[in-house]
Amino acid sequence: MNYLKVFSPATVANVSCGFDSLGFAVDTVGDEMTFTKTASKGVKITNITGAKLSYNVDENAASAVVQKMLIEAKADFGVELTISKGYSPGSGLGSSAASAAGAAFGANQLLGNIYSELKLVKFAMYGEEVACGSQIADNVAAAIYGGFVLIRSYDPLEIVKLPVPKELRLVAIHPQVEVKTKDAREVLPKQIDLKDAITQWANVGGLISGLYANDYKLISNSLVDIIVEPYRKKLIPYFDNVKNAALKSGALGAGISGSGPTIFALCKGDKSASDVHSAINESYKNKGIEYTLFTSKINNQGIKILESN
Ligand code: HSE
Repeated sequence: MNYLKVFSPATVANVSCGFDSLGFAVDTVGDEMTFTKTASKGVKITNITGAKLSYNVDENAASAVVQKMLIEAKADFGVELTISKGYSPGSGLGSSAASAAGAAFGANQLLGNIYSELKLVKFAMYGEEVACGSQIADNVAAAIYGGFVLIRSYDPLEIVKLPVPKELRLVAIHPQVEVKTKDAREVLPKQIDLKDAITQWANVGGLISGLYANDYKLISNSLVDIIVEPYRKKLIPYFDNVKNAALKSGALGAGISGSGPTIFALCKGDKSASDVHSAINESYKNKGIEYTLFTSKINNQGIKILESN
């Protein structure tokens, strides 16, 4: 393969109870990236649209990943890439992760598909470190594997792909305020009560059981975060209004997407998703804060090849 264009999905990390260990991929929102083999070695970004990101190969999450992979694989070619951001960085929808994961996937195709998905997650985690200072796997793993993923262990890295109940739908609102992941991590407590830990890990177990059993009631009961959300919601204007509106209109659960400010709701079926979409819209209009709002299926495939030759 000498050229490919991919779609790399947005992702919702944490999924309420699973801080840094759960995530899922979004079907309709994401980035498009192209990768072209060049005879001369090295990596070059030739175009970025949709966001202001660095063209510096070492500073951009995507190019940094491609460069690392070409060096590690001792490639005798270079790569030119373009990035078309489908949504804004700093949204809580895994923007840098979509770029880093897309880059790992694209470079691997040009290298002849030599790396496993797990190894691609490791490369993409390096991109996350370049972009935001920490090697977090929940967003990049969800983008690469698709569907829901559990980061069962960070060291050694172990990822479990979880099933996606067919009728599950996402509604997400992105208020146009900036929440930096670094800041959203700094507000978190360093220690938690054993009592709270018990509640939280029981909910993680419940959510995963619910996904396997197609048990929407169990999924709903388990979409609860008593550890991270109370601290982070203060960074998101009108978080409680949105969450209450979503739950009152029939959402299975609602919470902060990744480190925010996007607020996500999970719903059973298209009709419920449409009701929740309207209720969230009502709850945010006239608040003086611009926002985008979308409904999507869960992406079970991960990164998709749109064109290649
Ligand atoms: N799990 C991460 C967090 C996602 O919530 O901080 C953002 O990278």
